[in-house]
Amino acid sequence: MTRKSFYITTPIYYPSDKLHIGHCYTTVAADAMARFKRLKDYDVWFLTGTDEHGQKIERRAAEAGKSPQVFVDEIVDWIKELWDILDISCSDFIRTTETRHKKSVQAIFNQLYEQGDIYKDKYEGLYCTPCEAFWTVRQAKDGCCPDCGSQVEMVSEESYFFRMSKYAQRLYEHIQENEDFIQPPSRKNEMINNFLKPGLEELCVSRTSFDWGVEVPFDKEHVIYVWLDALSNYITALGYPEDMEKVNRYWPADVHLIGKEIVRFHTIYWPIFLMALGLPLPKQIFGHGWLLLKEGKMSKSKGNVIDPTVLVDLYGSDAIRYYLLREIPFGSDGVFTPEALIQRINFDLANDLGNLIHRTLNMVSKFSQGIIEGPSLEEGDYDRELKILALETSGEMEKLMDNLQFSNALAVLWKLVGRANKYIDETEPWALNREGKRERLNTVLYNYLETIRIISVLLQPFMPKTPHKIWELIGMSNEPELQTWDSSRTWGCFKKGTRVKKSEVLFPRIELDNEGEQKPDKKAPASTAQAQDKIERMGQIKINDFARVDLKVAEILTAEKVEGADKLLKLKVSLGKEERQVVAGIARHYNPEEIVGKKVLLVANLAPVKIRGIESQGMLLAAVDSQGKLVLSSVDGDIAPGSQVS
Ligand code: MSP
Repeated sequence: MTRKSFYITTPIYYPSDKLHIGHCYTTVAADAMARFKRLKDYDVWFLTGTDEHGQKIERRAAEAGKSPQVFVDEIVDWIKELWDILDISCSDFIRTTETRHKKSVQAIFNQLYEQGDIYKDKYEGLYCTPCEAFWTVRQAKDGCCPDCGSQVEMVSEESYFFRMSKYAQRLYEHIQENEDFIQPPSRKNEMINNFLKPGLEELCVSRTSFDWGVEVPFDKEHVIYVWLDALSNYITALGYPEDMEKVNRYWPADVHLIGKEIVRFHTIYWPIFLMALGLPLPKQIFGHGWLLLKEGKMSKSKGNVIDPTVLVDLYGSDAIRYYLLREIPFGSDGVFTPEALIQRINFDLANDLGNLIHRTLNMVSKFSQGIIEGPSLEEGDYDRELKILALETSGEMEKLMDNLQFSNALAVLWKLVGRANKYIDETEPWALNREGKRERLNTVLYNYLETIRIISVLLQPFMPKTPHKIWELIGMSNEPELQTWDSSRTWGCFKKGTRVKKSEVLFPRIELDNEGEQKPDKKAPASTAQAQDKIERMGQIKINDFARVDLKVAEILTAEKVEGADKLLKLKVSLGKEERQVVAGIARHYNPEEIVGKKVLLVANLAPVKIRGIESQGMLLAAVDSQGKLVLSSVDGDIAPGSQVS
């Protein structure tokens, strides 16, 4: 019998910057779901990747003095490493700059054009570059993007358009008839009321004003609109249109996990593109909430992003995954605070789970020389209660997981952890030992171990490393049949006669001032205040880091436009003893004539890169405001070119 397939995706991330903890939220959730379904024996395909084209990336690369491809390659390597350290078990990682993707997107564009869904016209309207989104004047009140608040730009260019209106009614009916299609339900109402009811505008699906994108195959002046390019990843990664066997195996996706601000693209544009291609629609699109900071949204420009690698380094990936999945009900917004993270680690992981294992192993070592003897047949009330709860837990969790309620599923599992701790207190093994009640002692010790086994099995989707550590401690690393999800429904699997190890601290408590019970791990900061301070200072660098940047005063000798690139100027600058060639993304802000003779600041030890085939041997410093206005930084007085800036 063929196994049932389960296809889950994350959004593909913009590699315009390193990702922050908010981005990890979606990917960790998708990973937990993928692991859960694998444990339930589904044939799982879990896709993530990067969305590498578009005006925003092109601008960011120019600002960094790099070619777009070099720029994204570096960040994508970093993202892949991040997913490794977070134990993200994706089946594939699609990059929109890969040939396999570009070829498929061109085939899709061709098909839509040939069947008349795409036509050429002229676009005049508003565009938000950070969101890569078109808006009408009515939608962009006061000239600002309704999604991110940035200033929109007026664009006027020849474009290809997609006939959205042709499919609008069909989509409306589909949304109404399929309760699960858009989740949570509040997002569905928003789409219907704000976009479908007022009537869908035809969508512009190509751009000519920049060229970092997939070319329209039959019209090289145009690149394909980045959202058509990006959304297609969900099928191009499966091999569409060439490898239809794989497409048929996994498509339609069971769930696209996305953040709430991109629900419109996924529930309106994407289904309509799929209808036009004659493909079935995804079964569900789940728009989750945002992970916020106390002061609002995380943003690189505000300098308040939380770097996930620092958190993992401090507390370990399982603890961070646990926090993300447990703290905020999936779907709602939630606030990240260092205090809440530390509390989750101390209370849920160190106190509840850690202590359960620690106490159990200590008692087995003390009262039973590390060996688990069998239970007796006699069963008391406490035993029965524990056993019933343990056997019910996986079923309860399954129902919640199928509705993407990660936090509630973990709460159910922690109810069992709490019950097991209480059972230790109720059964008083130290008294049984003192009184020589050997048979009863063997029974309760066995029951502790069997409950820990079940808990460790059910932990697997959420915390991939911890179960293995527990199995090592309780002597079941080499017992795969005791590790299966389904084995959590049977009581009594733990093998009699197993030798368990001495206890080891799985989750070091992060000492709270004056009230610690365990010594803190060397790596963990000693107090909440210190931990918080460390997290808050994550974006900072040391003076030695800064000293590695060689800043010099440079005098601009010549400047000329770079042919075919409306943003770039090619400059010759003098550093006193030497001259350099620099390609700078400043042509929209300065005419070549007006900057010759200016003394500006140059990063002189940046590795040379080629931009549009021209070597750039350094980067000019400039200030950019939130509206995108750019001015070059300069020196406050006359000073010789080549002077060191420090
Ligand atoms: N490239 C597009 C998606 C294309 S999918 C075909 C994009 N990329 S993104 O990098 O800006 O965002 C990717 C995802 O990260 C979005 O779902 C977004 O909601 C999510 N998050 C970004 N910041 C977040 C938080 N602070 N909290 C939770 N999710 C966050 O949009």
